[in-house]
Amino acid sequence: MTITASRSDSVGGGGRVTGGPMTLTGRVVDGPSGFTGVEATPEWAAEIKRLARERNATILAHNYQLPEIQDVADHVGDSLALSRIAAEAPEDTIVFCGVHFMAETAKILSPDKTVLIPDQRAGCSLADSISADELREWKAEHPGALVVSYVNTTAAVKALTDICCTSSNAVDVVASIDPDREVLFLPDQFLGAHVKRVTGRDNIHIWAGECHVHAGINGDELTEQARTHPNAELFVHPECGCATSALYLAGEGAFPADRVHILSTGGMIDAAKAARSSEVLVATEIGMLHQLRKAAPGIDFQAVNDRASCKYMKMITPAALLRCLAENRDEVHVDPETAAAGRDSVLRMIAIGNPGGGE
Ligand code: 13P
Ligand code: SF4
Repeated sequence: MTITASRSDSVGGGGRVTGGPMTLTGRVVDGPSGFTGVEATPEWAAEIKRLARERNATILAHNYQLPEIQDVADHVGDSLALSRIAAEAPEDTIVFCGVHFMAETAKILSPDKTVLIPDQRAGCSLADSISADELREWKAEHPGALVVSYVNTTAAVKALTDICCTSSNAVDVVASIDPDREVLFLPDQFLGAHVKRVTGRDNIHIWAGECHVHAGINGDELTEQARTHPNAELFVHPECGCATSALYLAGEGAFPADRVHILSTGGMIDAAKAARSSEVLVATEIGMLHQLRKAAPGIDFQAVNDRASCKYMKMITPAALLRCLAENRDEVHVDPETAAAGRDSVLRMIAIGNPGGGE
């Protein structure tokens, strides 16, 4: 498919884009790991902005997106911040540069808007770790329990959920529930362990799901990095396999406790602005480093595991975003019954707690 922009003002089909003040050429190649072939040049960025304006669209990007996608977006943030922005966006179209469950959440919140994701194949291994049928069975084993689902779940799972949460408000959400009520927390076991530890609840059952990227950031790597960077601060996402190790290091006195922070991606931005050390070790997906370096250019941010890249987040390429705006694809649909059943749980989520940076 060839994308060409000329001075005409119309957007043509079949992958041909016309209508820019500049000429933009590139072959959009559809491969198994996403669309490629278009460079993120200033012309590309101008064309993205122009097409977004023409469509009355706002572009939202998660903190794990490629730097060039973050830089062209109207808003960059964590899952909670982006959900809130999507719920209140005045534009007719939301272009969600993130993974599928995020775009679905935007559609649940704004059923009358057009929600687009640049590549609908951008899934999430964590969201795939529990199905609606599995949740139905789990609920049947615990009648009377309240279901708290991480936002990294499908719309069908949200429809069976009482309250959704994100990493930035999971503790607040669980703390808001009657302490005598049993809680089913899903699907992330590491975030669940963090919530259990902080709230001190013992009537919380945790689903054994995980994100393949965060689970791969392990305690040994963190311990080794902490040993070789004794003056650093540690920013650790609670989905990480190493979150427990970080607290263990602090608890054992191997690392000063006031320099260990368990944070959502947005919380990391706020913490970066307040950091006192000149070095920060970051345990999360590596897309995060871009916003951190912009937020605090004087700090040396280093990934605990520089291979921790989410292949799904990285499917939102410059070529995919151009194709999305040029062709109005891929549109995200959630069947109205499922959306209605899931909406209250998402609204409860956005009413609780504060997301970090991005709003
Ligand atoms: P947050 O942006 O809510 O911290 O979520 C991280 C994540 O893994 C999204 O996929
Ligand atoms: Fe899902 Fe993990 Fe990728 Fe986040 S980093 S989108 S949780 S697979």
